Amino acid sequence: MDWNNQRVLVTGGASFIGSHLVDALVERGAKVTVIDDLSSGRRENLSDHLNKRRITFLERDLREQGVAEEAVKGMNIVFHLAADHGGRGYVDLHQAACATNLMLDGLVFRACCKAGVDKVVYASSGCVYPNHLQTDPKELLYLDEAKVGPPYDADNMYGWAKLMAEMTLRAYYQDWGMKSACCRYFTVYGPRGVENHAVIAMIARAFVKQNPFVLWGTGEQIRNWTYIDDIVRGTILAAERIEDGTAVNLGTTERIRVIDAAREVLRCLGHDAPIELHPEMPTGPYNRVADNSLAKELLGWEPQVMFMDGLHRTIDWYVATRKQDEVASILSTMLTERIEQVEQLRAVPVSRD
Ligand SMILES: NC(=O)c1ccc[n+]([C@@H]2O[C@H](COP(=O)([O-])OP(=O)(O)OC[C@H]3O[C@@H](n4cnc5c(N)ncnc54)[C@H](O)[C@@H]3O)[C@@H](O)[C@H]2O)c1
Repeated sequence: MDWNNQRVLVTGGASFIGSHLVDALVERGAKVTVIDDLSSGRRENLSDHLNKRRITFLERDLREQGVAEEAVKGMNIVFHLAADHGGRGYVDLHQAACATNLMLDGLVFRACCKAGVDKVVYASSGCVYPNHLQTDPKELLYLDEAKVGPPYDADNMYGWAKLMAEMTLRAYYQDWGMKSACCRYFTVYGPRGVENHAVIAMIARAFVKQNPFVLWGTGEQIRNWTYIDDIVRGTILAAERIEDGTAVNLGTTERIRVIDAAREVLRCLGHDAPIELHPEMPTGPYNRVADNSLAKELLGWEPQVMFMDGLHRTIDWYVATRKQDEVASILSTMLTERIEQVEQLRAVPVSRD
């Protein structure tokens, strides 16, 4: 597909994933507009494009009346990434906030349909998979797309909203012909990631020399962290090759025990502290790894970055861009909140009495 001069909207484009997607679309010659209310996104993620006037940036809340309609007008393709979302601590502890995604997604999709947008590409999640399948870390389980089905059992309100959005897009295609693709991202990490997600949280804890080093869960939980460059490539391929709302996993099949990732982070950062396990803290499912054969078949996509390589790149980026005292001051809040809340915390000095 020729992206040159395609009019593309990226909702949530100031986010970690959104900003990398914007980089790739700009590089392909697309005319990119970003809409983001900066509730968890950061303007600095887009600063190079903004300084060089390569993109249009709208700082707006898509849930406000008329905003989605205005934003999607004249767009060929809409990548919908805006969401009330944080990492595990956030999605476990903020059900009502995550429920607003039902409205957010509904407004954006309806506006796209009314405006005749050619295609919507949706940032879905591994959180649509049934919780009850993912309880035994010893089981050699790979979640293929067909495992999302009755009895539905999504991961918190966040996961239910992602599932409802996928279903909405399939219905819009079947009944009204609106083309779309859904990408189920699995635990994405890489530069510009934030501390409310596990990999960056582990790096941050080691970076500030936390002692003992705290790890949520038993450490036995299995994840398939997927590097940002692979996610962006898969998302663009989905835009090019899927149109009937099909949901496709974008995730590696590497089975990483969280405790092993933590040990590697400690080793790389030269921090020799005991690991203190906290199974009572938000942990998520104990066995979440994608089957990615559908992405291979439909998109010709395979992940290219192995976890150890991606982890080392992410640690290098973190160390080069962060200051210890600043990380220490925000870390405990960031584990369960979003940037918005951290900014509020900075604005209102907390009484220590
Ligand atoms: N990071 C992951 O591991 C992961 C995994 C699965 C799915 N996803 C999805 O990918 C997308 C991007 O996630 P991310 O981790 O890069 O960062 P994120 O979740 O912080 O991104 C959401 C972006 O949307 C913006 N936003 C939120 N509400 C908005 C509103 N009402 N109006 C306008 N903008 C709004 C935020 O400021 C932020 O920039 C999200 O949809 C997320 O659910 C992420």
